Amino acid sequence: MCGIVGITSNKQVTSSIINSLRKLEYRGYDSAGIATLNNGFINEVKCEGRVNALEKNLAKNKLQGNVGIGHVRWATHGIPSTINAHPHSSEKVSVVHNGIIENSTILKKYLIKKGHKFKSQTDTEVIVHLITEYLKKDDLKKTILKILKKLHGSFALGIIFKDEPDLIVGARRGSPLAVGYGPNENYLGSDSYALKSMTNKISYLNDGEFCVIKKDGVEFFDVKGLKINKKILELSSNEQTYDKGDYKHYMAKEIEEQPTTIKNCINEYIDKINSSINIFNFPWKSSEISSITLIGCGTAYHSCLMAKYWFEQLTSINISVDIASEFRYRNNRFNKETLYVFVSQSGETADTFAALDLCNKNKMKTCSVVNVVESSIARESKFVLPIHCGPEIGVASTKAFLGQMLVLYILCLKIGKMRNDINKKVYFTKIKSLFDLSKMLKKSLETESRIETICSSFVDIKGSMFLGRGYSFPIALEGALKLKELAYVHAEGYPAGEMKHGPLALIEEGMPVVVLAPRDQYYKKTISNMQEVIARGAKVLLITNKSKDEIYSENIWEKIEVENISDDLLPFLITVPLQKLAYYSALKKGYDIDKPRNLAKSVTVE
Ligand code: M6R
Repeated sequence: MCGIVGITSNKQVTSSIINSLRKLEYRGYDSAGIATLNNGFINEVKCEGRVNALEKNLAKNKLQGNVGIGHVRWATHGIPSTINAHPHSSEKVSVVHNGIIENSTILKKYLIKKGHKFKSQTDTEVIVHLITEYLKKDDLKKTILKILKKLHGSFALGIIFKDEPDLIVGARRGSPLAVGYGPNENYLGSDSYALKSMTNKISYLNDGEFCVIKKDGVEFFDVKGLKINKKILELSSNEQTYDKGDYKHYMAKEIEEQPTTIKNCINEYIDKINSSINIFNFPWKSSEISSITLIGCGTAYHSCLMAKYWFEQLTSINISVDIASEFRYRNNRFNKETLYVFVSQSGETADTFAALDLCNKNKMKTCSVVNVVESSIARESKFVLPIHCGPEIGVASTKAFLGQMLVLYILCLKIGKMRNDINKKVYFTKIKSLFDLSKMLKKSLETESRIETICSSFVDIKGSMFLGRGYSFPIALEGALKLKELAYVHAEGYPAGEMKHGPLALIEEGMPVVVLAPRDQYYKKTISNMQEVIARGAKVLLITNKSKDEIYSENIWEKIEVENISDDLLPFLITVPLQKLAYYSALKKGYDIDKPRNLAKSVTVE
């Protein structure tokens, strides 16, 4: 992960670097640092913790300079500490790095033999010493070409040099990197978002490329060092302001926004007058697609899993689902008739990007479902379906999850209709239900006060289980993931019918178990499984939808009822109480809800 920024200007750069680093904190927040060049000397200030802490340090140790680089870190090699924080510098050069240098141990041995002394435990420091070593014999460009050949792994780099008072080198392999153009200054950043307050004119580096940025111009080079031209893209200049408003946390706001974001997305994709789906310019005919593979990580993977149930229910197409980090290294059977769909909120997740890249290299049909439309995954896909839910800042994905599920559901209707798998009547009923979704979500948010009380039982426990069948199984996985990442409670999502094959042994007196049993085709079976865990002492929180019918089970500890909607849309409604359960459990424990420990919003390392 990690976020990097660089500025060369005719003005002081420190405060602009700090502003950009704040925007990059979604990539990592365990340490931060800045290095600038002033009167031929590289100076750095860095510290453990967040950009606020760095700013306090900078108030004590002022950093002057018209050229500088900054970094927010998500530790890979070496603990989060001041010494391991970036930039890493020698007398000659200073480097910020996002990614992993896979052969750092071998390179380190070589450099130590040459007399280099290492201060940190990071892989990044080898880049510093390697450049310093090569600069003894070669000029800057040759040095960069040589070190890029030596480094294995994926990375984005920002580099400044003691002897170059107006120059930043940026290099990309795997990890994304953008260049921005301003008046008498130019920029380097992990993404355009970090640069948006300074410019809307952006170019992106492709894999293997590097650039030399000066305040009056930027030069780009390919893998061989040959000069290349780059398009300058003009992004929408109105920077989206997004703050917490009166909410305590972004996550709380993002949960509450869901009825609106879902409504916006439906309005983007569905023409209310004639119930048609606005997916225009879809590049392939239905006869060209015989199967779909859905790929994502974490919450995005759960939305893919959810979509599998819908596609199987509503279409005759073959569907498979994959975790991106597994897909990318498997011996895949690539098939020209398969549509590969990549799901990602950020559009920057390294594993998902690598899986997409692999499919592109094998000339497959690729499509992405993303929130950030300027992201690497969106740019590299042959077709993009945005989820239109606005910025998601909380590390825990909430409104983006519902947005991803919604777009996949709409895609399923579209493909089902294209293939004549869905008859007209069913299609129109499904579209009609979609228009009720936002209202029903709003009502489901009212379960809030009950959850606030219930969550006390999820705070100091050994662990919990989330059980569901069919449509509710992916939601059980998602509920467990939310509780893990926010409240640091061990939780397992399990298909309710699998409990008897092993996990039932975990159930002991008083263990809180969440059972998702909306009244759909799986309801009765799930209720039977619920009774099996109650019989073994579990304290069951049942999440279902409202009904006049009684629930045939005794000793249910707590029950939350969401609104009614068609069975296949109930997963949206039952997700809401689970998001709130995780939120309030973390709040009770006093944890940092928007930035949980050890995590980052955008996972740009593999
Ligand atoms: O940006 P992406 O959707 O590709 O991110 C994938 C996962 O890292 C992400 O969903 C993660 O699991 C969330 N923090 C879960 O809340």
